[in-house]
Amino acid sequence: MNILVICLGNICRSPMAEGLLLKHLHENLKFSDWKVDSCGTSNYHQGELADPRMLSTAKKHGIKLTHRSRQLKVEDFDEFDYLWVMDEQNYSDVVSICPSKKDKVDLISNFSKSYKGQMIPDPYFGDQNGFDEVYKLLDHICAEIVQGLNLKY
Ligand code: 4NP
Repeated sequence: MNILVICLGNICRSPMAEGLLLKHLHENLKFSDWKVDSCGTSNYHQGELADPRMLSTAKKHGIKLTHRSRQLKVEDFDEFDYLWVMDEQNYSDVVSICPSKKDKVDLISNFSKSYKGQMIPDPYFGDQNGFDEVYKLLDHICAEIVQGLNLKY
């Protein structure tokens, strides 16, 4: 199964979601062959590592983020089974690129049990606390997603 997680800049939320999904998947070896990648709807930060504030939050929790920002491309709709976005703006930006594959696109929170419909707030223009909050939210969501897979397979 191939999962692509998507935000606006691909330097804050989606690289963290990628790192957390991989962490939770790898803790359950059954799913270690799943492919997880991330990208942004924009090319604002093409080629850059995650924002230093997100890197710092990740490091505090023992997670090393090495992903470099890239922009969503139309081929991604074929390559990936699921395209998981962080908020409604991402959703409409992603769907507008390939409306015929809209069924593959959904909020990441909709795949968790307790956070359905919840947006992952953009921390970019805030302070370090916002990054820590995004981490916590995504950690809970990704853990629940992997638990859900566990029940299903
Ligand atoms: P992200 O956060 O979408 O979670 O990576 C942002 C990163 C950069 C910008 C906005 C949001 N920006 O405007 O440059």
